[in-house]
Amino acid sequence: MAGVTDTAFRQICKRHGADVVFTEMASANMMLAAPTRNEAFLRYEEWERPIIGQIMGGDPKVMAEAARVIEEMGFDGVDVNMGCPEKKIVGNACGSSLLRDGDMAARIVEAMANAVNIPVSVKMRSGFYDSDIVQPQFAIRMENAGAAALAIHPRTKEQAYKGSADWTITRQIVENVGVPVGGSGDVMDREAIRRLREETGVQGIWVARGAMGNPWIFERERTERPPLAEVIETALEHARLMVKYKGNHGMIEMRKHLTWYFNGFPGAAALREQMKTVNVYEDLVRLIEQHQLLERFAA
Ligand SMILES: Cc1cc2nc3c(=O)[nH]c(=O)nc-3n(C[C@H](O)[C@H](O)[C@H](O)COP(=O)(O)O)c2cc1C
Repeated sequence: MAGVTDTAFRQICKRHGADVVFTEMASANMMLAAPTRNEAFLRYEEWERPIIGQIMGGDPKVMAEAARVIEEMGFDGVDVNMGCPEKKIVGNACGSSLLRDGDMAARIVEAMANAVNIPVSVKMRSGFYDSDIVQPQFAIRMENAGAAALAIHPRTKEQAYKGSADWTITRQIVENVGVPVGGSGDVMDREAIRRLREETGVQGIWVARGAMGNPWIFERERTERPPLAEVIETALEHARLMVKYKGNHGMIEMRKHLTWYFNGFPGAAALREQMKTVNVYEDLVRLIEQHQLLERFAA
């Protein structure tokens, strides 16, 4: 997830049981134009494996070149983003825009599959327009072009994140392709994971928004979110990793994670607001100590 699944977040998810992790999507053009940036942006630790690098672009040659960079960096697979609905991305004929140009999408996958030895996979939506669902034909084309695995978020680009994901489309894809299929869309808790697998037969579950502030979703035995004390401990650990990899700027990026971690805790609304103002790790520690002190007085 762009702006979310950096190495710090992935490590937290891994620690709680995620099987496979994906990088944030990287622009193929940017990767080739500013290669020095790749090391920081696509950084990962060995123990995160298996780890897949996700790239985004609209030109087969550039995408093949970027896939080679992903392979050289040691990733276990390279994934193509054909789902991003952002205006700027779509305007450049990338992301979900490829759903309305099956020829180009297939050429991209083919060029990438010919360029690398690691598996090439595709993350896609159900279509670009609400009135034109392209699945499962699009998935079949991607498989024929050389995709070793597919993942589907069954909303259209027009829907973006509105309405609900149509898992019947996921099931149709599973029934019509021979490669493994991952299911995404409305996976907010363990129950959704169970249902998505049962209702569609997918081989993997792609957890996205459900993991934001909630890495416990990966724990197979857990049925409820942990108590506040455990959330605090994990949030602090996450913040330390952010600072380790990104310096103080990591704490600015951490603000959104903090609001996700403390979402829904009764009595933590004020704390959540204050967390939007942290600049350094020590600010966070101080805020939490103050909150705990107040709690003790109130008890
Ligand atoms: C903030 C945000 C960033 C995302 N970035 C990416 C991305 O970079 N690559 C990708 O394949 N999907 C991305 N997605 C889509 C998710 O992977 C997922 O398919 C979508 O959120 C639906 O699943 P959910 O309803 O369980 O969240 C992003 C979603 C969100 C909310």
